[in-house]
Amino acid sequence: MSDHVFARGRDLPVVARGEGAVVFDTEGRRYLDGSGGAVVTSLGHGVTEVVAAIARQAEAVAYVHATAFRSEALDAYADELAPLLPVDDPRIYPVSGGSEAVETALKMARAYHLARGEDRHVVIGRDGAYHGNSRGALDVSGRAGLRAPYLPWLGSARRTTAPYEYRCPAPTHPHGCGRWHAAQLNRLIDDDVAAFIAEPVAGAALGACVPDDGYWPAVAEVCRRRGVLLIADEVMTGFGRTGAWFASEHWDLRPDLLVAAKGAAAGYWPLGLAVCSGAVHDTLAGFTHGFTYSHHPVGAAAGSAVLKVLTERNLVARAAEGGAELDAALRHHLGDHPAVGDVRGLGLLRAVELVADRETRRPFDRADRVAERVVAAAKDDGLLLYHSTGCADGRDGDLLLFGPPLVIDAGQLDELAARCATALHRVLG
Ligand SMILES: Cc1ncc(COP(=O)(O)O)c(C=O)c1O
Repeated sequence: MSDHVFARGRDLPVVARGEGAVVFDTEGRRYLDGSGGAVVTSLGHGVTEVVAAIARQAEAVAYVHATAFRSEALDAYADELAPLLPVDDPRIYPVSGGSEAVETALKMARAYHLARGEDRHVVIGRDGAYHGNSRGALDVSGRAGLRAPYLPWLGSARRTTAPYEYRCPAPTHPHGCGRWHAAQLNRLIDDDVAAFIAEPVAGAALGACVPDDGYWPAVAEVCRRRGVLLIADEVMTGFGRTGAWFASEHWDLRPDLLVAAKGAAAGYWPLGLAVCSGAVHDTLAGFTHGFTYSHHPVGAAAGSAVLKVLTERNLVARAAEGGAELDAALRHHLGDHPAVGDVRGLGLLRAVELVADRETRRPFDRADRVAERVVAAAKDDGLLLYHSTGCADGRDGDLLLFGPPLVIDAGQLDELAARCATALHRVLG
């Protein structure tokens, strides 16, 4: 083992290979991949078509700077992807991951308003949201624990409420939840506000929270009326995860900008995408931005190959079907456990919120590290899960997140839920 890796964990096993929804370490241990890493490996492991497409492009030409050349790979990818995006006349700016995509979209929003002669610069995010770990993305995020050390660098964004039905911030509001949230957003908007960024279905931070059907239409109407660009963060939800190509589709949402990553290249290449509408694109009077690896031809080839596999294997529909199977399996194996407060999600993005008291929904104390211990126990037993903390109040709150490869079969989904229940019993009795 090298001491020269700045490692992200202690005593980690060494990965050897992956196959479908299963990963093996160098000791020969098998792990069922219940979360696709951080909800990334949507095609599963070892998909040779994607590997071959990457190799072919890297062999032909691995890299050119995007200001010097276009590439056939990227032109083809953009044409294949455009009809699938819920954005009008989309223009695709490929980057290397979700945080870069968010930074790019935020700058696009600012550049759009500047080009229209307006000094709008404030971005509104939501409580409990996660949009990435770079400074701009962290500023629009609402995760207190991640933000805390860097607060002196942050502070230009505003934050509004998030639809989180299990812990609704206004459980007695008189109208539909969605309209109440939209009114909160409306109240925060003034002439400085450039954009509103949110995940159509909350990802890891709030644990696959699905808004009520009134939320997105009401929020989109506020943004449109107040001249605020709507940025849909589909980094976790994009590319089939929720049973639609993009989660925005569930509510006919047409954002001005959209960001994606994770499932875009399914872990085979670090690919992120910032997408803006043709109207936004055509308004920009120049866009001072770029990364060395943006518009990468190998990334585009990987993205194309992933689209092909998703389509040919009908994996978007499978995500919807598998989601129902996973929901049933989780309720069957875990539903009666006194620490299981809520089981929620859409498609193959699901979460279980663990609580100390089911009646009062009181969370466990953070010092108990319940989510971390369950995930560790699951891993010991050959199941990989993803966890998140702080959903209840920024500090307490334990979530287990499920985002398995979309190729996972019904038997494996049942195994996933059963192993998760075993881990929960081992930790909490
Ligand atoms: C919704 C959302 N946005 C943005 C990001 C940041 O993406 P990345 O880690 O690729 O920078 C993530 C990562 O988990 C995410 O879930």
